[in-house]
Amino acid sequence: MTVVDLAALGESFTRDPYPVYARLRDQGPVHHIRMPEGAEAWLVVGYEAGRAALTDPRLTKEWSRAAPALRLGAVSAGRHMLRADPPDHTRLRKLVAREFTPRRVEQLAPRVQKTTDELVEAMLAAPDGRVDLVEALSFPLPISVICDLLGVPDLDRGAFRNWSNEALGAIDPDRREAAAAAMMGYLTTLVDDKRHHLGDDLLSALIHGQDEDGDSLSPEELLGMAWLLLVAGHETTVNLISNGVLALLTHPEQLAALRADPGLMEGAVEEMLRYDSPVETPTYRFTTEPVTIGGTTVPGGGELVLVALADANRDPGRFPAPDRFDITRDARGHVAFGHGIHYCLGAPLARLEARIAIGTLLRRCGGLALDIHPAAITWRTGMLIRGPHSLPVRVTP
Ligand code: HEM
Repeated sequence: MTVVDLAALGESFTRDPYPVYARLRDQGPVHHIRMPEGAEAWLVVGYEAGRAALTDPRLTKEWSRAAPALRLGAVSAGRHMLRADPPDHTRLRKLVAREFTPRRVEQLAPRVQKTTDELVEAMLAAPDGRVDLVEALSFPLPISVICDLLGVPDLDRGAFRNWSNEALGAIDPDRREAAAAAMMGYLTTLVDDKRHHLGDDLLSALIHGQDEDGDSLSPEELLGMAWLLLVAGHETTVNLISNGVLALLTHPEQLAALRADPGLMEGAVEEMLRYDSPVETPTYRFTTEPVTIGGTTVPGGGELVLVALADANRDPGRFPAPDRFDITRDARGHVAFGHGIHYCLGAPLARLEARIAIGTLLRRCGGLALDIHPAAITWRTGMLIRGPHSLPVRVTP
């Protein structure tokens, strides 16, 4: 099978990957590709094939089982659930699952609202009403919520953000690894420091806590958990807010409908997740044996398999007229949060933050407009995360 060289498509693929995925989907559900990052992988496109791959037990998340030829560098710290199969995965997830149930998360609403109010207030105070939405709202809101939850209010956000962005999205493997190493060093100190200042927060609970089965985290797992939750807090919801607002501003009739009926917000957030999914292709999976998908056999032995969530969510077989942004459609069933045992733990929190952030923005800002031509927006590189680097907007009360 010929290798589809996505790396050769350069910036145009980063800016608008959807037509590329759609063309591949027309040809079949699995393709041998070269990723923009350089490594070769097998890309699964389409809704049914994507969901099947996400629950296929022959695909492992253990990086130790990756083919050595892939030469995957260390881009995360410690050991965490997104790199584990059952029974380890089950154990690690159970230790924090109760913190993220919809009911538990709903209790955070007043705190999320207060932070949002302060951020939107500051936006409206900008001298000429011109702000970068990413800097002003999309980035600071989720990160302050997760830092609060974990009990790390003093996180060096600027530095952490740069490392996290680089570790996940830099095309150059040396840069990815250097950023991951720096982040690991920083987190080790942070967790050590926390040991001496335990409080009423999640990280403290994880440090000294044992769950009802007497289970607790090893030092490596503790580091991995902190890494995973902080990175998830930095890299995902930020793009749901930015991509969602961008979709509204480029579809004025949808924006008007949402302003006219704020009751549409819940469904609108689902459509934002479907239409421009913040996680374009989720984390790596590796074959443990040959796996045949739609007549194509992916060899065993640790081949890298990627599932194009962004394409599954634009599959016309599942979502009619998928390229149309329509906040009144039934977008449920989208796979923006993944599928199967690794389904996003933070989904209730991400939904809450997006609803409050976008709802408050619309309520408080009678005037809200893009301050850049959509074609001039630059997008995060790499296939994992989809979102703009910055989103200049103009706001008035
Ligand atoms: C819009 C925001 C978000 C999106 C689109 C998103 C998306 C995803 C996806 C697609 C996965 C599955 C990855 C895979 O199977 O390879 C995942 C897993 C995960 N997410 Fe999120 N996420 C978001 C927000 C968050 C937040 C705010 C948190 C934490 C507070 C979080 C924590 C996690 C964790 C811990 C996992 C691993 C679950 C497991 O392995 O069992 N996510 N997320």
